[in-house]
Amino acid sequence: MRIIIATIFPDFVRVVKEYGVIAQAVEEGKIEIEIMNLRDFTHDRHRIVDDYPYGGGPGMVMKPEPFFELYDHCKQRFKDLYTILTSPQGVTLNNRLAMELSKKGNLLIFCGRYEGVDERVKSLVDLEVSIGDYVLSGGELAAMVICDVVSRFVPGVVEEESVKRDSFYNDLLDHPQYTRPAEYRGLRVPEVLLSGNHEMVQLWRTAESLKLTALRRPDLFLTRQFSVEEKKGLIYLIQELVKYVEGRQDSPDSLSSSGKRW
Ligand code: 6GU
Repeated sequence: MRIIIATIFPDFVRVVKEYGVIAQAVEEGKIEIEIMNLRDFTHDRHRIVDDYPYGGGPGMVMKPEPFFELYDHCKQRFKDLYTILTSPQGVTLNNRLAMELSKKGNLLIFCGRYEGVDERVKSLVDLEVSIGDYVLSGGELAAMVICDVVSRFVPGVVEEESVKRDSFYNDLLDHPQYTRPAEYRGLRVPEVLLSGNHEMVQLWRTAESLKLTALRRPDLFLTRQFSVEEKKGLIYLIQELVKYVEGRQDSPDSLSSSGKRW
């Protein structure tokens, strides 16, 4: 897939394709990320992209012409162009939307500025997208977030297993992760992870995911249809809890990591 980001700050946005798994995927040709400068689609000496709002008021409004001309340029190159505009008024980005967007052949992202974009630009746009309930001074950071999260769903960019395990992919939060050393400054890795018992490790991870989800995202927990594996995880949690309450064990692995006491 190809993602094209149209912005007045190309140097700011470019870093999105220069680090980590995204950079690797670009190098391997799994995704193409193009950064286009809206100012390249102006015709005046000062390459002006904004103007005063009709009707008055504070701030400036982004002129329609650079967006239209950049769009025409892209449309000539790619027939199957899907265009989004970053906007606090847009639909809120989540994994489901990102997965849908990752199926588009060519995704054009217009970066708006928060004062606004001439309304007529929206006639080019398939979808307005926000990344959360707060206001950014410009759409660039939002476009970078969209670019990153969408890229991760393109086959081969991130290991399939890894995507599936991620927080929110299956509406559960991630379990904690540890690496060596087994003890650091008195902080020990939970014993079960050192045991080599894969079945128990899996059970512990499921239990931890469920516990964290129940504590931090009760909305997700309450609407969940639990699998048999997850019910076993819940039983495991209850067993650990009972052991703890009955004083047969202090601070079991599965109860200690959330920072909360039951
Ligand atoms: Cl997409 N743009 C701006 N300017 N602010 C935002 C946003 C987008 N999403 C959340 N806040």
